[in-house]
Amino acid sequence: MRWFPPKYPTILSPMWTPLLLLLLYFAAADHGGATIISVTDHGAVGDGRCYDTVAIQAAIDACAGAGGGRVRFPAGGDYLTATVWLRTGVVLEVEAGARILGGRRQCDYPADPARWYVVVAEGVQRVGITGGGEINGQGEAFVVRRDPRKNVMVSWNATGSCRGDECRPRLVGFIDSVDVVVSDVTLNQTAYWCLHLVRCDHTFIRNVSIYGDFDSPNNDGIDIEDSNNTFITNCHIDTGDDAICPKSSTGPVHNLIVTDCWIRTKSSAIKLGSASWFDFRRLLFHNITIVDSHRGLAMQIRDGGNVSDVVFSNIRISTKYYDPSWWGRAEPIYITTCPRDPGSKTGSISDVLFMNISAVSENGVFLSGSPGGLISNLKFKDINLTYKRRTKYPSNLYDYRPGCRGMVKHQTAGMTLEHISGLEMENVKMRWHRSNVKGWNNPLSITPSTVNKLSFKEWASEIC
Ligand SMILES: *[C@@H]1O[C@H](CO)[C@@H](O)[C@H](O)[C@H]1NC(C)=O
Ligand SMILES: *[C@@H]1O[C@H](CO)[C@@H](O)[C@H](O)[C@H]1NC(C)=O
Ligand SMILES: *[C@@H]1O[C@H](CO)[C@@H](O)[C@H](O)[C@H]1NC(C)=O
Ligand SMILES: *[C@@H]1O[C@H](CO)[C@@H](O)[C@H](O)[C@H]1NC(C)=O
Ligand SMILES: *[C@@H]1O[C@H](CO)[C@@H](O)[C@H](O)[C@H]1NC(C)=O
Ligand SMILES: *[C@@H]1O[C@H](CO)[C@@H](O)[C@H](O)[C@H]1NC(C)=O
Ligand SMILES: *[C@@H]1O[C@H](CO)[C@@H](O)[C@H](O)[C@H]1NC(C)=O
Ligand SMILES: *[C@@H]1O[C@H](CO)[C@@H](O)[C@H](O)[C@H]1NC(C)=O
Repeated sequence: MRWFPPKYPTILSPMWTPLLLLLLYFAAADHGGATIISVTDHGAVGDGRCYDTVAIQAAIDACAGAGGGRVRFPAGGDYLTATVWLRTGVVLEVEAGARILGGRRQCDYPADPARWYVVVAEGVQRVGITGGGEINGQGEAFVVRRDPRKNVMVSWNATGSCRGDECRPRLVGFIDSVDVVVSDVTLNQTAYWCLHLVRCDHTFIRNVSIYGDFDSPNNDGIDIEDSNNTFITNCHIDTGDDAICPKSSTGPVHNLIVTDCWIRTKSSAIKLGSASWFDFRRLLFHNITIVDSHRGLAMQIRDGGNVSDVVFSNIRISTKYYDPSWWGRAEPIYITTCPRDPGSKTGSISDVLFMNISAVSENGVFLSGSPGGLISNLKFKDINLTYKRRTKYPSNLYDYRPGCRGMVKHQTAGMTLEHISGLEMENVKMRWHRSNVKGWNNPLSITPSTVNKLSFKEWASEIC
């Protein structure tokens, strides 16, 4: 459904009705049966040293065998474990004061690196994690060398089971699963991605706190991969890499709502991509606070997927520069379709609304389509952009990574526009902080031959 133009939407436009119904569905959903089993009944000791894997798995299997219910991790225990598998109808209840600790050894994880999680569910229904406690990936054990710019991490690639420098276990994964609820838990110190959805449908993530080492790469907050009907609310994410990251690798991402979240990251707070082989449709991000992040709202479309019908509303952003080894150059908003490699397909981005957004940033907004990968029908309404330098990092770089053109020298502008068809700005204010106007004398950088259908209404810029 195309919802603008001509009619300007509110977040309650009919397009969102299925999603609001989804909320009611979650409110009513009853997860699991009545059985409650404690892992200690199956011999878990919770001393943080002996592996409780067998006891935990036995409790989960017994619970599933009894028709589903809850598997309780009593308060006070540190339950060290290798990978455990959730079963249909089972909800883990990690009590406040209890911790599940992920193993630090490769032999704690299955042979297939795509199944390297501390807690994983695959092909199941009505599963969840809750209870007020913590799941901890012991990420500090995976730091080879601390570096305030970017830590050097362990990579379990020597065995050849995976390649490159990202062979580390994730924390919690749901694969090919339906009706997933993660609520009221802390996910702490993941070694790699933290909470990962793969081809899931109907997922509800509420009141989850995610903490990761600010200097460690790839410790993403929530990765929503190839999944539909996902609702994320009241989450607190403070981590090194991308905080909320929809990706499309084997299928599209449809219907994602994220509301009422607080985010700090050394990478992008919200990022579509960079894995973007399929489409992203109907995404809503509302009432989000983004603090001291490297990027605010980002789309890195690199592999031919098409993005459409996305709303960002009521969002406060502050961005700053960090070491350039991290993707990001302090852009509050960064929208790109540059293909990854010369051989990659080109995706498009259309019908995106930014409404009621205020940002304080060290760099400008970057809106960059590509030949054959236009950005079309963008609307900015009620936006305050304040530009203020806070760090000494160089400011004159455009960042097209990953792949594409890499980093390109360019004069900093309040807003850079490339390859766009249809951009409407209404009540957009740009303010430059008086202390550092030098090198910023360019409110708008437009490459005319590639930008079409611009409209400005109540657009203002000033030095303050
Ligand atoms: C294995 O990981 C290390 C550390 O990140 C990296 O330097 C090396 O290139 C990787 N080797 C292979 C074969 O991927
Ligand atoms: C959120 O979860 C924490 C535990 O992680 C719990 O203490 C708190 O009461 C929860 N808040 C709400 C509103 O349920
Ligand atoms: C996260 O884990 C670290 C150490 O692993 C610990 O110091 C910290 O208190 C934990 N944070 C929370 C919020 O549980
Ligand atoms: C998501 O919805 C699309 C469109 O209906 C469908 O093609 C895709 O298979 C769905 N994915 C999942 C994981 O249900
Ligand atoms: C916005 O989200 C924050 C949590 O980040 C919450 O405390 C606040 O109540 C929300 N505001 C509204 C208007 O719902
Ligand atoms: C994206 O849209 C283009 C143009 O309509 C289409 O050719 C391409 O197949 C779409 N990409 C995907 C992944 O569906
Ligand atoms: C705009 O967003 C802010 C939060 O960033 C919120 O407090 C305010 O109520 C919103 N204004 C409108 C008109 O929705
Ligand atoms: C932008 O700033 C003006 C004051 O100059 C304020 O009235 C308005 O609410 C702000 N809008 C947003 C979206 O922050």
